[in-house]
Amino acid sequence: MVQGSNDNMPRVGGPKRLNDVHWQHLEVTGAARAALLGSQPCVLWFTGLSGAGKSTIANLVEKQLHALGKPTYLLDGDNVRHGLNRDLGFTDSDRSENIRRVAEVAKLMADAGLIVLVSLISPFRAERRMARALMKSGEFIEIFVDAPLEIAEARDPKGLYRKARRGELKNFTAIDSPYESPENPEIRVETARCDPTTAAFQVLAVLQQTWQNDPTHTRITSQAVRAVM
Ligand code: ADX
Repeated sequence: MVQGSNDNMPRVGGPKRLNDVHWQHLEVTGAARAALLGSQPCVLWFTGLSGAGKSTIANLVEKQLHALGKPTYLLDGDNVRHGLNRDLGFTDSDRSENIRRVAEVAKLMADAGLIVLVSLISPFRAERRMARALMKSGEFIEIFVDAPLEIAEARDPKGLYRKARRGELKNFTAIDSPYESPENPEIRVETARCDPTTAAFQVLAVLQQTWQNDPTHTRITSQAVRAVM
């Protein structure tokens, strides 16, 4: 069965050798798993500079969804790089592979019925497009966590911009490695203008719209959000 094949996706690691690998038909579908969990799976893909606030906002969104009884998982770049992607650095090709692997994992998790939050710089449009193309239609929500470099650099929560400016850290995003801003994200939050809770509520409000036809869905109000956060 070829349904769901993503053979046209770019691959790292040389030529494809998938001709002799066939798709195995599985009886329990993604829809059945989601129904069992009472969930509406999607992938919330947070992109932006280091220090823009991606992880903070993603954490707040996950906390709120969890409090509402939604099954979630947050794939955070820093954490994934300690395990699954510990062999990867920050060259363009390593970042591409980082994003490809995380996108594949997010796809599996969404297929398992979860609301998946991904927090990765994911600086290249092509890779974000690739991630979107892996997911089911309407399932990928790109969230541009937009902060000007001056602001992200002034925050510098991990001291990495300082290191990069001193030349101790190479290929640092927005210093000596590019960041390509999303052209058409589903959501854009400007973290220089609003606090993380407001930004999280903006994301939740969009989800709320997506879920409005679901009678079992609990309404998300800004009061409820602030109560949990
Ligand atoms: S991505 O570009 O491949 O998507 P990812 O989100 O996984 O990056 O990892 C970014 C995190 O790694 C940053 O939050 C920062 O803490 C750390 N980091 C270490 N070196 C770099 C670098 N050269 N560029 C960007 N982030 C770096």
